Amino acid sequence: MAEVTVDVRDGLGWVTIDNPPVNALGRAVRQGLWDAVATLRDADVRAVVLTGAGRAFVAGADIRELGQTPVEPYLPDVLAAIADAPVPWIAAINGLALGGGLEVAMACHARIAAPSAKLGLPEVNIGIIPGSGGTVRLPRLVSMATAIKLVTSGKPIGAQEALESGLVDRLGEGDLLAEATAMAKDLAASGRPEPALARDLVAGDPIDWDAQAAQLRKRSRGAVAPLEALASLKCAARDPVEVALAGERERFLWLAASEEAAALRHVFFAERGAGQALKQAEAVPADLSRVGVIGGGTMGAGIATALLLAGSYVCLIERDDAAAQTAKTRVADTIAASVKRGAIAATKGESALARLGTDTEYAALRDCPLVIEAVFEDMGVKREVFTKLDAVMPAEAILATNTSYLDVNLLAETTKDPSRILGLHFFSPAHVMKLLEVVRGEATGARALATGGALAKLLRKIPVVAGVCDGFIGNRIMAAYRRDCEFMLEEGALPHQIDAAMQGFGFAMGIYAVQDMSGLDIAWAQRRARAPHRAPEERYAHIADRLCEAGRLGRKTGKGWYDYASGEAEVAPEVTGIIEEESAKAGRTRKVFTEQEIITRILATMQREGQAVLREGIAESADDIDVVMITGYGFPRHKGGPMYMARCAD
Ligand code: NAI
Repeated sequence: MAEVTVDVRDGLGWVTIDNPPVNALGRAVRQGLWDAVATLRDADVRAVVLTGAGRAFVAGADIRELGQTPVEPYLPDVLAAIADAPVPWIAAINGLALGGGLEVAMACHARIAAPSAKLGLPEVNIGIIPGSGGTVRLPRLVSMATAIKLVTSGKPIGAQEALESGLVDRLGEGDLLAEATAMAKDLAASGRPEPALARDLVAGDPIDWDAQAAQLRKRSRGAVAPLEALASLKCAARDPVEVALAGERERFLWLAASEEAAALRHVFFAERGAGQALKQAEAVPADLSRVGVIGGGTMGAGIATALLLAGSYVCLIERDDAAAQTAKTRVADTIAASVKRGAIAATKGESALARLGTDTEYAALRDCPLVIEAVFEDMGVKREVFTKLDAVMPAEAILATNTSYLDVNLLAETTKDPSRILGLHFFSPAHVMKLLEVVRGEATGARALATGGALAKLLRKIPVVAGVCDGFIGNRIMAAYRRDCEFMLEEGALPHQIDAAMQGFGFAMGIYAVQDMSGLDIAWAQRRARAPHRAPEERYAHIADRLCEAGRLGRKTGKGWYDYASGEAEVAPEVTGIIEEESAKAGRTRKVFTEQEIITRILATMQREGQAVLREGIAESADDIDVVMITGYGFPRHKGGPMYMARCAD
């Protein structure tokens, strides 16, 4: 089957890209387009309609080809041939037009899009920039401000926004191809529009390039592709077209061969490959149109919000009417904030909230095929919840816990059928964070696993399968490096130095700023619970305990690892004092740590614990560990993850 078909009908040429699943622009498609241009140049046609078969126009380059030596025909040449065609080429954008796909559309002389189409230049997400004239054509179709947003964020826009910005000329409200035909005939009659490169830049407000670069540098946390994308647009604004095109191609080629792009490609494939056991679970998942949630605190309300926004009905159980009302308000506030941010439409928010029911009796959960528990992190409380659930719920219902650390196997013991129990470890805020650790207990069955997979799909989350241990994959690795950071404090570092090193490496926040934000008390309770089991010879830093004893529980108490009296995080002399005292007590001579030493040590600890997690079969693969650390714990995506970095260093 040809990847590109050419047809002549009704005086028009029809070119259809058909390379399932998403019409990626591999070599065969580029060759097909190249041949189509030649064929139609000699045919008696007045205009050409170019479209995609299936759900995509063209979703982008073939990512497997990136990072290898490009092979002919090169996309820039194919696009130049389209733009040079004697008759107008109309891109009929039937679905996704991303990356190289949007570049193809921009090389055409006009664009019509289905209202459901999505258009974007997501190249920076895989460490590159558009490499076929995208940054030079785009500001000739939309304002430079819009071009900067599109190219440096990598975020796609919808068809309506594309129409308003000038990226497409029309929307095909009804039958897209019929409307494209009409447009083709109009243009054949009125004359071929200038191709984008022959047009002037779209007029707009002047751009302060230095301010843009400074902002972007902050946002991209060390990733270079977004800055190169901006630099390429600046050339497009300033240089003659040929110079800008050559400059863009040069940047594209070196970025495609860069470590950053290789790391981002690794993450791209690791995310798509994550959760293998769920893909293999051969069982029919539970129906998710109605889901029960127990506990409407931070996590329960977030999980309920995610489910409601995905279209499910939610029955939320709380301890009493007042708590149920508080939980409902929490969900309503979260949804209202999403509406205010523009993340969802007001009508969607309203209908989501209308699907929420609250109750205080477990009997209300009986028609929920899945129930997710998110009550206090306390084995006694959770066991009581599962015992009650086991008594009330039909035998086929799947029961899940959102525990962060507790033993899922011990919880499963409370039920007659432990195969229906699993962990579903969400991250806060649960309606935003992409990661879902699906925790497989010893007895967890295929149906429970399949349900975890189906839930991730419904909520558009990335599921990673984890075995049972203290903290599963992510919290276990984080606990290990948090402990090691405290040892570094004892040896001479200070919290702000460790945080600065982490931020310098590309983490959104340092570990101490994070702890202050989420509160120090839960980990404190956990350490106290574990204290009796600690071996006397085990190294233990008392610094965090002393902070808690001094009432320094984080931002919520106005002080934690930092002081917040001014509203901003400031170095806390009291904490420095405690650290120095503990160093002395432990008999350590304080030394100066460089940022590099701090990062090397944190990475080594993550990698050591990651290896242990793999050895023990807690994670299915090293790639899954990278996905967890990147999507759940702020590890910089453009570094590829701790396990990837270890592999590259070997
Ligand atoms: P929270 O304290 O904000 O909420 C717990 C809620 O459960 C409260 O509203 C409480 O009234 C309710 N509750 C307690 N016992 C109940 C019972 N028997 N029946 C019905 N409702 C009951 O706690 P949070 O932070 O939401 O944590 C809940 C669970 O999620 C814990 O297991 C925690 O370890 C886990 N988790 C927390 C994360 C976080 O970032 N806060 C992240 C991932 C998991």
